[in-house]
Amino acid sequence: MRISSILSACAAVSVATAAFSSYAKPSNNVFSIDGEAQYFAGTNTYWIGFLTNNSDVDIVMTHLAASKLKVLRVWGFNDVTSTPSSGTVWYQSFINGSDPVINTGSDGLERLDYVVQSAEAHNISLIINFVNNWSDYGGMAAYVSYYGLSANTAWYTSTAAQAQYQKYIAAVVARYKTSKNIFAWELANEPRCSGCDTSVITSWVNTTSAYIKGLDPNHMVAIGDEGFGLSGGASGDYVYSSGEGESFHDNLALSTIDFGTYHLYPSSWGENDTWAQQWIQNHADVGTALGKPVILEEYGPTNHTVDLTWQQWVLSTQTAGDMYWQYGDTLSGGRRLMMGIRSIMGLLSLIL
Ligand SMILES: *[C@@H]1O[C@H](CO)[C@@H](O)[C@H](O)[C@H]1NC(C)=O
Ligand SMILES: *[C@@H]1O[C@H](CO)[C@@H](O)[C@H](O)[C@H]1NC(C)=O
Ligand SMILES: *[C@@H]1O[C@H](CO)[C@@H](O)[C@H](O)[C@H]1NC(C)=O
Ligand SMILES: *[C@@H]1O[C@H](CO)[C@@H](O)[C@H](O)[C@H]1NC(C)=O
Ligand SMILES: *[C@@H]1O[C@H](CO)[C@@H](O)[C@H](O)[C@H]1NC(C)=O
Ligand SMILES: *[C@@H]1O[C@H](CO)[C@@H](O)[C@H](O)[C@H]1NC(C)=O
Ligand SMILES: *[C@@H]1O[C@H](CO)[C@@H](O)[C@H](O)[C@H]1NC(C)=O
Repeated sequence: MRISSILSACAAVSVATAAFSSYAKPSNNVFSIDGEAQYFAGTNTYWIGFLTNNSDVDIVMTHLAASKLKVLRVWGFNDVTSTPSSGTVWYQSFINGSDPVINTGSDGLERLDYVVQSAEAHNISLIINFVNNWSDYGGMAAYVSYYGLSANTAWYTSTAAQAQYQKYIAAVVARYKTSKNIFAWELANEPRCSGCDTSVITSWVNTTSAYIKGLDPNHMVAIGDEGFGLSGGASGDYVYSSGEGESFHDNLALSTIDFGTYHLYPSSWGENDTWAQQWIQNHADVGTALGKPVILEEYGPTNHTVDLTWQQWVLSTQTAGDMYWQYGDTLSGGRRLMMGIRSIMGLLSLIL
């Protein structure tokens, strides 16, 4: 009951404004957003660019603005291995026997265009991500299958896969290169290279981030990783190890990476909710050592009564922002997403 009354209160607020007038950039350990240096609260809606109804996009942006959530992370990829039925949005296809196709049409990147347009109208700043490690919405697996790579881990060093990935990045960056409401470009969602030397991912991050800076020197670039591979954990603590081929420090140290990203899912990682405190602290410490901001860009505790405690740890460690996973709304096509309740709990904890 409480939830629905908050949502209808939000729906009544209409925000119509001009786009931001300056690019977001690091400002010591936080960010300057629209010219103002600040910590931010944000969220994720991976699905918003796959909606087909503009007013549904606007409803989400209106609610985010009313909730004072400043930064929204969205999927800027939607890779398919067969052409979906009409009316289903896709951005890039990998169909054996044809060249990869980047869909710039009305059921393609034009949907993402509208997300950017609506973000501009509502003073929301966007993180746009280019590929998934996971096979949801195609991901690296779509490239792996199309190019006949020997293993998923071969994606990072495959010349053919990387050439197409860069071509896709160029197509997206070109569309929003001058928008001040793009907070940052992001290389991948949760890139992992299981069993690889950390130099594989570091080298890929180095090459890709430099490539993006060459296309667009104005926007920030981040990785979108889980933040694995750093010191501070108990011995045998897997997420602190380099088992997934990551070094949080070495990747953040690259000059073409503007800020650090990490995720926090203790229940998936065999940890408890209290353990989160050291995870938040250890990432903040790497950011401080390197002089770059760090954000907690996805989180979901086992028990949502601890959301507020985590947010307080984020603030007390001078972590620049937190973005809960994930925001949900009731739209013309029904509820997006099933995890709506979880995200509304996150919203409540921000309001209360
Ligand atoms: C949105 O941003 C513009 C440009 O900085 C500013 O003039 C306006 O006041 C902002 N609106 C709200 C509701 O914050
Ligand atoms: C697509 O082509 C690749 C490379 O030729 C091949 O290895 C792979 O098995 C093919 N995939 C399918 C689904 O046919
Ligand atoms: C994504 O990460 C998981 C876990 O390491 C791995 O099993 C999977 O193969 C990865 N996907 C790709 C395409 O590399
Ligand atoms: C990153 O790329 C630059 C330019 O090619 C190179 O000089 C530097 O050594 C690379 N760094 C790493 C860690 O790979
Ligand atoms: C949570 O895990 C830590 C180790 O990571 C342990 O020290 C602590 O006792 C645990 N707390 C609870 C309430 O189980
Ligand atoms: C979550 O934590 C609260 C407060 O400690 C407790 O009352 C509640 O039962 C917990 N819920 C679950 C599902 O564990
Ligand atoms: C789009 O969403 C609005 C608002 O929910 C709804 O009134 C309208 O019928 C929808 N349009 C279509 C074509 O579904």
